[in-house]
Amino acid sequence: NRTIKLAVIPGDGIGPEVVAEGLKAMNAALRDSGVTVEETVFDLGADRWHRTGEVLPDDEFEQISTHDAILLGAVGDPSLPSGILERGLLLKLRFALDHYVNLRPSKYYRGVPTPLANPGDIDFVVVREGTEGLYAGNGGVVRQDTPHEIATEVSINTAYGVERVVRYAFGLATQRDNRLTLVHKHNVLVNAGHLWRRTVERVGQEFPDVTTDYLHVDAATIFLVTDPARFDVIVTDNLFGDILTDEAGAITGGIGLAASGNVNPDGAFPSMFEPVHGSAPDIAGQQKADPIATISSVALMLEHLGLVDEAKKIRVAVDADMEERADAAEAGTPLVRTTSEIGDAVVARI
Ligand code: NAD
Ligand code: IPM
Ligand code: MN
Repeated sequence: NRTIKLAVIPGDGIGPEVVAEGLKAMNAALRDSGVTVEETVFDLGADRWHRTGEVLPDDEFEQISTHDAILLGAVGDPSLPSGILERGLLLKLRFALDHYVNLRPSKYYRGVPTPLANPGDIDFVVVREGTEGLYAGNGGVVRQDTPHEIATEVSINTAYGVERVVRYAFGLATQRDNRLTLVHKHNVLVNAGHLWRRTVERVGQEFPDVTTDYLHVDAATIFLVTDPARFDVIVTDNLFGDILTDEAGAITGGIGLAASGNVNPDGAFPSMFEPVHGSAPDIAGQQKADPIATISSVALMLEHLGLVDEAKKIRVAVDADMEERADAAEAGTPLVRTTSEIGDAVVARI
């Protein structure tokens, strides 16, 4: 018998709707497992900010960090200035909890509408660095609101930070198809780009079974559309990874399916699991959001916590639900379901 302390941050917009379904799937998968989850819900996000002006008070951060894992819906809302919650809450957690691996798997499910004429066998994982790069907040503005304003964001890339995420990506490749692609832009970003390139070459010597490849990020966006099956594991920096994973979501038929984990592999801090999508203010409160991204994020979370069989139950149920969708669409009677109806269908299969 094991107890897991889970911090839950439903957040804004569709966040609470999809998190509810993720928790339903989690509880179904853990039934009869001997594992008990103690959930603590944190009221953070736009409402809290409007009520109190608070984003993430120190004591709440401390409390969150004592949990075993975090499940987050989404944060951000057009009613407050862009960046307050994104930087002050989401990125604050990713940085302070040292989530240096931002794990974003992409898989194409048959029958899902995709802009690609021939999606083929898409099944890759982007390992996005999560604690450095252009997200580090290193920069500033001088002469603001004058014609001479200069705004800088300086990308931080440390040997330590690059090596640990590259090593993780190689390890992941050995559990998959042994193919690793580094994506960067070392023809222009000659400082950071070459640090990444040299690191992949050096660490790669420890993983002789893994074939490595390199693409400039602009070319990578082409291949994601023209030949996505060429990818197995992609390792890249924070901003390139952000952009590539939205594109990955689009080619696999929608951001409502894309799961992610912000992982601290060392286990020194709790890892955080969340759908790749945001708060989707345009469909919030209407039970229109697809909860599969969140449910699959819960599967990643259970795997991370060592509950591999329980994670598998969720994955099998999601795969079956996606099959049912494909069959219905092919038969000309596509399923029309609310957020919670999709969650219920997955739970029934678990
Ligand atoms: P978004 O992902 O919220 O929405 C983009 C489009 O995708 C919208 O049309 C939306 O309806 C659709 N969509 C998103 N999730 C869906 C789902 N589960 N099912 C069906 N359709 C879905 O991106 P945005 O509009 O750029 O951002 C909205 C807010 O969310 C912003 O404040 C942004 O900063 C924030 N955001 C937060 C996170 C996060 O918390 N991790 C991630 C991305 C964006
Ligand atoms: C994501 C989001 C975030 C990011 C934003 C909201 C800070 O786009 O999770 O992909 O850029 O990482
Ligand atoms: Mn993003």
